[in-house]
Amino acid sequence: MDWETLEKKCNTCTACSLAATRTNCVFGTGSRTARLLFVGEAPGEQEDLSGTPFVGRAGQLLNKFLEAVDIPREDVYIANILKCRPPKNRDPLPEEEEACIGYLREQVRLIRPKIIVCLGRISAAKLIKPDFRITKEHGQWFEKGDFVMTAVYHPAYLLRDPRKKEDMLTDMKRLRQKLDELCPKAGENG
Ligand code: URA
Repeated sequence: MDWETLEKKCNTCTACSLAATRTNCVFGTGSRTARLLFVGEAPGEQEDLSGTPFVGRAGQLLNKFLEAVDIPREDVYIANILKCRPPKNRDPLPEEEEACIGYLREQVRLIRPKIIVCLGRISAAKLIKPDFRITKEHGQWFEKGDFVMTAVYHPAYLLRDPRKKEDMLTDMKRLRQKLDELCPKAGENG
């Protein structure tokens, strides 16, 4: 499937009940040739209203961490496990994840990233392993065929517990190093 077909399919998707309550489908944003793919959990209110991932308070904090390690946001791709907002930002249901994960799989196939970074436990549990422990295993690397994966704290969690920001900065610095190691050519860092 090509990008246009995939995005259109996603925007008109009715595979789960979230279709009934969404304002916009939040497909994903950024460079379609990115080396680095960030995957969050699900759109929040601002994302639902705008149709773009990570534009609310959590997104602004993510931008700060990207800036801190000199990774331009426009060079990476940012998506979520769920493309539609769950009511009152509740956790995604297993059936919603199952209904939606095919879109992310296709995005990964089209982008062919070198590194996938899960933002938070829910994304890591879906993409790395079901029993992922974010407090213990954040910042660790997991080899997955054509790419490597890691998970960092979700920026919304850092807003609730700012003491974890130090760990986040350490993880982001390691991510920067990994990027330089796997994609050393200037201009190919996204
Ligand atoms: N939280 C997420 O997990 N994703 C978004 O797009 C916004 C907030």
